[in-house]
Amino acid sequence: MGDGIKLPMLNGLGRTNRIDNWWSQPLTMGIALTAALIYTFWRLFINDADISYTLQGSTVMSPIFSPNVLEWDLFGLSSWNHPEWVNAAILVLWIPFGFRGTCYYMRRVYYRTFFASPTACWVDEPDINKAIGYKGEKRLFIFNNLHRYFLYAAMVILVIKWWDVTHTMHFKDTHEYGVSIGTFVMAIEAFLLTMYVTSCHALRHLAGGMLDRWTTGISRIRGRLFGRISVLNRSHGFWFWTSLVFVFLGDLWVLAVADGRFNDVVLFSF
Ligand code: FES
Repeated sequence: MGDGIKLPMLNGLGRTNRIDNWWSQPLTMGIALTAALIYTFWRLFINDADISYTLQGSTVMSPIFSPNVLEWDLFGLSSWNHPEWVNAAILVLWIPFGFRGTCYYMRRVYYRTFFASPTACWVDEPDINKAIGYKGEKRLFIFNNLHRYFLYAAMVILVIKWWDVTHTMHFKDTHEYGVSIGTFVMAIEAFLLTMYVTSCHALRHLAGGMLDRWTTGISRIRGRLFGRISVLNRSHGFWFWTSLVFVFLGDLWVLAVADGRFNDVVLFSF
């Protein structure tokens, strides 16, 4: 057996023989994630007004503040005399935050964008990374192993998101049902989140990946389910970004309508 071919590698952060714009994707993603974090911080801690608006008695909720657990009678939350800085997003956002933060795709993104580990294929990484070496998912990163549990919690959130969509369709003032622009905004957000959750690697494993064979009875059904999720899983990155972006677009829409910059309208009702 030979030793294999040793390819030349340039040493030094970011040095490479690649001639394409290898840096553009990690740079764009890094900027997008940083902007998302800053916007979320602003909405949670600086401006948590206008989290919803009503249209003829229907409620359209900002995706960031949905589910609005502070309005729930469950656990006495609606009558809780909470501190002024507490809002629904502060109480709930740890679930989507934990779910996205431990996502297999997200790990790839932030390892590359924020830690340059690796910087990119065939691009050298910083010396500090070489000195530390790869230690696996230990210390703080051990939380990544909780992804499956965040998935369970995210599924509950997903059901509530669709429930919130139904609230936009009941115009209590006129005792009618129908669809407004807000319905579309919330339904698109819920749909994109559904695609993101149903294309999850951990869900695929739970559905059928954990089995040795899919030959009889229920295992055959799970095998088929595994196949379906595998198809969605190929676009997991796409669903990650579109569902994330739409959280903020939905929030901007709610802010704009609640501020009176735009008007929502009932598109049809019956
Ligand atoms: Fe990305 Fe589960 S792997 S959400």
